[in-house]
Amino acid sequence: GAHKLWGGRFAGGPSPLLDAINRSIGVDFRLWPHDVRLSKAWAIALGHAGVLTMDESRELERGLGIVAQQLADGAQPIASDEDVHTMIDRLLHDAVGAVASKLHTGRSRNDQVATATRLWTIEACGRVDAAVRALQQVLVTQAEALETALMPAYTHLQRAQPVSVAHWLLSHFWPLERDRRRLAAAARGASELPLGSGAIAGTAFPVSRLLLKESLGFHAVARNSIDAVSDRDFVAEAIFALAMMGAHLSRIAEDLILFGSSEFGFVRFGDGFSTGSSMMPQKRNPDALELARGSAARLLGDLVAMLGTLKGLPTGYNKDLQDDKRALFDAVDTMLLVVPAVAGTVDELTFETARMESALSSSMMATDLADYLVRKGATFRESHGAVGALVREAEEKRIEMYELPRERFAQAHALFGDDVLDALSARSSVAHREAIGGTGPKAVREQIEAARAALGPA
Ligand code: ARG
Repeated sequence: GAHKLWGGRFAGGPSPLLDAINRSIGVDFRLWPHDVRLSKAWAIALGHAGVLTMDESRELERGLGIVAQQLADGAQPIASDEDVHTMIDRLLHDAVGAVASKLHTGRSRNDQVATATRLWTIEACGRVDAAVRALQQVLVTQAEALETALMPAYTHLQRAQPVSVAHWLLSHFWPLERDRRRLAAAARGASELPLGSGAIAGTAFPVSRLLLKESLGFHAVARNSIDAVSDRDFVAEAIFALAMMGAHLSRIAEDLILFGSSEFGFVRFGDGFSTGSSMMPQKRNPDALELARGSAARLLGDLVAMLGTLKGLPTGYNKDLQDDKRALFDAVDTMLLVVPAVAGTVDELTFETARMESALSSSMMATDLADYLVRKGATFRESHGAVGALVREAEEKRIEMYELPRERFAQAHALFGDDVLDALSARSSVAHREAIGGTGPKAVREQIEAARAALGPA
């Protein structure tokens, strides 16, 4: 029969229908390195506690080493393996025989799976962090090449004000910086040790949970065994960090998809990240960006699934929790595909800077024109009215504001002087914005340096 961790109390076997719905090995198999690691730590802890002899403890450690090697060499689950813990237990029996039966002393799959999932989450947060950092690096490198190029910034997707292209690029850097902070916080939250909590009431053997914590690299020991086996906050936190990141990547993607359309023509997608059409030979489609944008939806679904699972649960382990890994792994797997693809796309972009600058219509400097009057002593309210009249007139005549007769400026407001044309230039608009966080050349240079500093040494 199948190798089982339970079953003694049942006269009949489980229905194949139960087996089918209960089996999680297809999802949780990837936990094996962490399950082996925590099992070795548990074997050692049982030895130190005098629950096992030192020989037994060492034999279990040795056996788990053999199992790890088999798994690293590609050992696959068999049909009857219920979950990864059962599979490792089976392989351990094959490797060392009867002593394998002593490993599960004082522990439960409830504290075991919580511990393995935490270890996996901590490692996964590190991997996603590295991928996001690489994307940030691409953004900063592109920004450095585009410090002096100008483009329109949009509100309501209407041309708003001129900014440097570097400033727009870096507007996508800082959200990713916050994402990395949230990931680090999620990893920190995951770093509380459940092992030694048993099924729910704590372990009945005198193992040192402090030593377990040290050997497994956790920051703290969970202080309540009931909470320890029930708690999946760290899963929800990690998925939230990823879902938020998904929203950020969707925004980068949407900006670039628009900018890459012929109507904008601000960027061209490189060959490595463009797909063609089976029918239309001219097509150069930004599929990676569209998939990034679309993935944000599934990440949101993962978050809702996890929070929905937690919402209805009573205290203690409940089998609903088995699905935490489905949501978590999907969110991480998705991001480990999406983030590098977005980085590659951004790295390969060509910026059509002449086209971007030609999109800077003079009405975008209306605010600068009002600021000009304010600097000459007018109130902002009266300046806004005067400039508004000029904007309307240019719009009606379908001309740029600098094409309006000079006397129209003087009529609109007495403080308009000969230097008004300078106030209508995009470059002077940008040059005025040197307060921290602005798009002025010095402010952007400082921002690039701050971004580099945030990334730390390469
Ligand atoms: N496969 C299970 C999970 O992932 C392991 C825990 C099983 N515990 C139990 N009491 N049935 O949640």
